[in-house]
Amino acid sequence: MQLPDPITVGDVSLEMTIHKRRTVRSFHSKILTLKQLSQLLWAAQGITGPEGYKRAAPSAGALYPMDIYGAVGEDCIEGLNPGVYSYDSATHSVSLIQKGDSRRDIAMASLGQVWMSYAPITFVITAEYNRIMGKYGQRGVRYAMIEAGHIGQNIFLQSQALGLEAGIVGAFKDQKVIQVMGIKDTHEPLLLMPVGYKR
Ligand SMILES: Cc1cc2nc3c(=O)[nH]c(=O)nc-3n(C[C@H](O)[C@H](O)[C@H](O)COP(=O)(O)O)c2cc1C
Repeated sequence: MQLPDPITVGDVSLEMTIHKRRTVRSFHSKILTLKQLSQLLWAAQGITGPEGYKRAAPSAGALYPMDIYGAVGEDCIEGLNPGVYSYDSATHSVSLIQKGDSRRDIAMASLGQVWMSYAPITFVITAEYNRIMGKYGQRGVRYAMIEAGHIGQNIFLQSQALGLEAGIVGAFKDQKVIQVMGIKDTHEPLLLMPVGYKR
């Protein structure tokens, strides 16, 4: 599904988003708009450069080893059926890769952090190391992890600017998350980020 065009001018100052950013662990089930989803994914990994491939977050050697997935529940995002979606930066679109609501399974894979499953969407930031290790060897793993942090902060700050809140989770079983979301096993999940309105 093609996402609406993102905006590059907002109502909230960068300073205010930094000031207000907090890890939130209590979410409302209120539905998110496709525009909000578009904006969040653009902030995470959207194309921003005039060259047509550089993205919102920096990447060592501009090799972009990261992918963003979103686990969505019923009546959580307008126009989207429950499922796991992958984001394509080049086309600014999402594709369904697995049907059904996997948010609770993801929460259970995150050592039972059930609060996560109440957010309408959980973003999963993954790294495919072979895209970066060809150039940087083992150090590429470090670079990918640093990149995940940049993407995570962009999601945090964009959430704030949209009046939403985000959580961040690093405590999860990698293989279990891969399995319940049906993502490629070469895509290692590094960060999970539930996003929605604060309860
Ligand atoms: C890499 C990383 C992993 C984290 N993992 C979890 C987690 O599994 N569960 C959780 O509730 N919070 C997690 N947090 C959030 C931290 O607890 C939180 O950032 C910290 O308490 C500071 O609060 P703040 O983010 O609101 O400023 C994680 C944060 C980071 C950066």
